[in-house]
Amino acid sequence: MRAMTYRGPYKVRVEEKPEPVIEHPNDAVVRVTRAAICGSDLHLYHGMMPDTRVGHTFGHEIVGVVEEVGPSVRNLSVGDRVMVPFNIYCGSCFFCARGLYSNCHNVNPNATAVGGIYGYSHTTGGYDGGQAQYVRVPFADVGPSVIPDWLHPEDALLCTDALATGYFGAQLAEIAEGDVVVVLGAGPVGLFAARTAWLLGAARVIVVDHLDYRLAKAREFALAETVNFTEVDDVVVHLKTETDWLGADRVIDAVGAEADGNLLQHVTSAKLKLQAGSPVALNWAIDAVRKGGTVSVMGAYGPLFTSVKFGDAMNKGLTLRMNQAPVKRQWPRLLEHVRAGYLTPRDVITHHVPLEHIAEGYHIFSAKLDGCIKPVVVVDED
Ligand SMILES: NC(=O)c1ccc[n+]([C@@H]2O[C@H](COP(=O)([O-])OP(=O)(O)OC[C@H]3O[C@@H](n4cnc5c(N)ncnc54)[C@H](O)[C@@H]3O)[C@@H](O)[C@H]2O)c1
Ligand SMILES: [Zn+2]
Ligand SMILES: [Zn+2]
Repeated sequence: MRAMTYRGPYKVRVEEKPEPVIEHPNDAVVRVTRAAICGSDLHLYHGMMPDTRVGHTFGHEIVGVVEEVGPSVRNLSVGDRVMVPFNIYCGSCFFCARGLYSNCHNVNPNATAVGGIYGYSHTTGGYDGGQAQYVRVPFADVGPSVIPDWLHPEDALLCTDALATGYFGAQLAEIAEGDVVVVLGAGPVGLFAARTAWLLGAARVIVVDHLDYRLAKAREFALAETVNFTEVDDVVVHLKTETDWLGADRVIDAVGAEADGNLLQHVTSAKLKLQAGSPVALNWAIDAVRKGGTVSVMGAYGPLFTSVKFGDAMNKGLTLRMNQAPVKRQWPRLLEHVRAGYLTPRDVITHHVPLEHIAEGYHIFSAKLDGCIKPVVVVDED
């Protein structure tokens, strides 16, 4: 089959690779029709995630058609059109039983922290991802769902990660009616978090980024106020002036380890890889939230992280909440909102790239060229 493969930082290409086979009675093989490229894939693409091996296929936002099922699979049949959440999980361990699907204990030899994720390096189990013609889906009765007839396949695609994660970010932020919510990052995750904040009762939503085209999208799509952090002296002071000098009630970090905003940290982390990323966004969140407020972290960070203002977080009495999104837990309510038109996932898609040209998709998305917000990889038709 044709599959995206990682060759090294900033180098990906499409190659022939053996088609996946059923390795376990609970597996399915899915013929991928659409995949997406996520901000998380950029951490891999930039060489920031440990144990990203040459030849690994990325891609954890996947919709497709069931091609083959193992003998134990009961909930799926060959020919079903499915949406596959980015988490791989068993559905029955201590953690899965508590809805912590992203922390499953049975799917990753490194499972002390994260569980399994498609195409997200050997740190999350080494499973090949869906930016390919076929993908093996373990625990096929647990993760994927048949796409409802009324749901557009590209809306379904965004439910497998970006939308579910933005929604989860707003949920973890513990938004109460009347709250001022700041969202750092106007990528797909930040845009969806900002849009969700209204559904949860926010009175003001302020989105921060430095890319004007994305801030324009935040105004139009998420009806948010916006701040370009390069146009103010000090973004934290600016946010304080906007919030009666108290700070925001809730701040959502939708940026992660490759934050811009501090040249030294950006160069030493993203460019020279001397540290495991830049804590700039996380520290802005801790500084910009009011005492007793909540910081919700959706941005992805490497396992070891330094220079986070933890003492300030403690002394301010903050609640810090974070996780990889347990995607399927969000689906019942999320799909209701999509069906009702409150959430319109496809609106953030800016680019369609054929699988054979995926390297160009990575470049455009990584360099934020051509107004790119969310690129979709076109693999096959239904
Ligand atoms: N927790 C999860 O389950 C989960 C799931 C999906 C994505 N993620 C993570 O969420 C983050 C966002 O994903 P995305 O797909 O929206 O990525 P993206 O790269 O499209 O968006 C990130 C945005 O942050 C902006 N930014 C950079 N530095 C900033 C700063 N200091 N302050 C404010 N904005 C800044 C960038 O300009 C960009 O627009 C990534 O770290 C990704 O790994 C986490
Ligand atoms: Zn993702
Ligand atoms: Zn489990």
